Amino acid sequence: MEEKKKVGVIFGGMSTENEVSVQSAKSVMKNIDTNTYKIEPIYIDKKGIWYESKQEDEVEFGGEIKSKTKIDNIVEYLKKLDIVFPVLHGLYGEDGTIQGLLKLLNIKYVGCGVLASSVGMDKAYTKIIFDRANINQAKYVYLKVVNEKYVYVDKNFDEKTMEMKEVVKTITTQLKFPMFVKPSNSGSSVGIKKAENEEQLAENIRYAAKFDTKVLIEEGIEGKEVECAVLGNEEVIASNVGEIKAADEFYSFDAKYKNSKSRTVIPADIPEKIAEEIRKQAIKAFKAIDGRGLSRVDFFVEKDTNKIYINEINTMPGFTNISMYPKLFESVGIKYDELLDTLLKLAEE
Ligand SMILES: Nc1ncnc2c1ncn2[C@@H]1O[C@H](COP(=O)(O)OP(=O)(O)O)[C@@H](O)[C@H]1O
Ligand SMILES: [Mg+2]
Repeated sequence: MEEKKKVGVIFGGMSTENEVSVQSAKSVMKNIDTNTYKIEPIYIDKKGIWYESKQEDEVEFGGEIKSKTKIDNIVEYLKKLDIVFPVLHGLYGEDGTIQGLLKLLNIKYVGCGVLASSVGMDKAYTKIIFDRANINQAKYVYLKVVNEKYVYVDKNFDEKTMEMKEVVKTITTQLKFPMFVKPSNSGSSVGIKKAENEEQLAENIRYAAKFDTKVLIEEGIEGKEVECAVLGNEEVIASNVGEIKAADEFYSFDAKYKNSKSRTVIPADIPEKIAEEIRKQAIKAFKAIDGRGLSRVDFFVEKDTNKIYINEINTMPGFTNISMYPKLFESVGIKYDELLDTLLKLAEE
């Protein structure tokens, strides 16, 4: 008998999405084909310490990982693996850092490479690439916050240091309220707030700056929030389009993980022509960032006009069996375990 391939499933991580990642990985590990693969669970805690874990461990959301043995030599440990599935969301996982480590060690891994991961994680840079690809998106500006000083970066990357008063003035001449203020590197809506007026704008910029040195400000789009999943390396396919019904004013952290009234609807209640256009744009966006393996691409469909705006691309989307990404593919006939099989095969290409 041929020896089984060792798949390292890495989860947890140092980001604000540690708990979400644990849940995603639990589902993934339950559904990987164990006739072909041997699963090696690896847990990274919030401090960045790596552990060998056990698959059987049941962990509720936010609960503690019980079976864990510290890995002393991470490099040696990783070298024993054939493939890695980094089921990590957010910083130090979805941003190209772990991908860089794996690449350096010549280990195959599931999903996007270094460049796509880091571009997808940084909202300001995602916007710059989408602009270049002519994909419609909300108007935006971004700032760098250095030692409580605000550096406005214009379209030519020329910088101007400003006081908050001037920042607000500059932004309000370019964008209309309501605006969304976001840390450029964020996930799960952490640090994101909606601003309806100048005071809130200043307040929200200060708040977002607690999470990242780059802050993105964009015009709010009123309409439906929809998502499309893509899969593939060279030949990329797109799923159905699904809709998010957030149980809050917007899809905040609480609406995502705490409010059970948030719902998803598949397929989204939009005209087929619009859905087809979203699928096309999702693939285009994925290719524009040099994507590989998988991504979930999020859009808004504007009320009244049905105009499409791209919002963001997630290179390692939530992966529990009730998450949008697997559900979108399930709705077009690709079951969860088949999806994992395809992703592992794509990683080996
Ligand atoms: N320009 C916008 N117009 C309307 N709602 C927005 C806009 N940007 C963000 N939102 C709302 O905020 C949520 C989180 O923003 P998003 O950019 O998706 O960040 P994250 O990466 O944390 O998911 C979105 O799901 C949406 O509900
Ligand atoms: Mg989002």
